[in-house]
Amino acid sequence: MKNRSLVSITDFTKEDYLKILDKAAEFEHQQPSDLLRGFVIATLFFEPSTRTRLSFESAIQRLGGKVIGFSDSNSSSVVKGETLRDTIRIVSNYSDLIVMRHPLEGSARFASEIATVPVINAGDGANQHPTQTLLDMYSIRKTQGKLENLNIFLVGDLKYGRTVHSLLMAMSAFNPKFWFVSPDELKMPSEYKLFLHSKGIEYFEQKDFAENIDLADIIYMTRVQKERFSDPMEYEKTKNALVLKKNMLANTRPGMKILHPLPRVNEISIDVDDSEKAYYFTQALNGVYIRQAIICSILGLI
Ligand code: CP
Repeated sequence: MKNRSLVSITDFTKEDYLKILDKAAEFEHQQPSDLLRGFVIATLFFEPSTRTRLSFESAIQRLGGKVIGFSDSNSSSVVKGETLRDTIRIVSNYSDLIVMRHPLEGSARFASEIATVPVINAGDGANQHPTQTLLDMYSIRKTQGKLENLNIFLVGDLKYGRTVHSLLMAMSAFNPKFWFVSPDELKMPSEYKLFLHSKGIEYFEQKDFAENIDLADIIYMTRVQKERFSDPMEYEKTKNALVLKKNMLANTRPGMKILHPLPRVNEISIDVDDSEKAYYFTQALNGVYIRQAIICSILGLI
């Protein structure tokens, strides 16, 4: 993994995923001090973020590293017309690693081809969010005790939700069964279904949440991605289509856990939060350990 960019979850192998998960578990139990002393890491966020940016920055600072960057591209020379190409060339000179979120699909791959330091994709449009996937896998393994042979329900905006795209690809290495639960307008794109076909992974599609919910090991909820709709009426039509309520958990497995990359809007009722099946806030905490493990692997420190 040393010096390799992480743009798509498929840039890493199954063995890489497991190494990162194991290292994150070590970091969770004991934080090594100063592993990143002397390193400068740039966080370039061209799109809003709370968890991804702050957990990266917390991860870096807890290991003694320094962070530079911006959380709003309006405070950078992008507003003067500077291209992404030039921005990345410049920031490569100032840092040892670049973490970037950008609204355009493919922007992270482009940045990785320009940069002279490794690039970590912190989300590129509706395409991929690989570090979220690794923290999701960490959360799945921690709660289920394994990654293999699980029944995983992906619910909500499966069209624009980049987290479900990356998660589906990575979990395919562990023989899951998927249930895709979404309104017609937000179905899983065919390229991802073709990917599953090529791997021999079974999936089912349904519009009704309650159907088969008793089989779920993981219910992975997602927000309808308002910012990716070209037609606001389409968003209005779908935004309340799938809402998880506490009474719907009655027939679910005892060990089932609810995950959500967050932020949540209204797709999980607040009354679910105090259920022992709600795991999404701890899931967000796991992002710190996973991002420490990813950074240290790419910088060749572990
Ligand atoms: N999960 C996630 O990407 O959250 P943020 O948009 O707050 O970073």
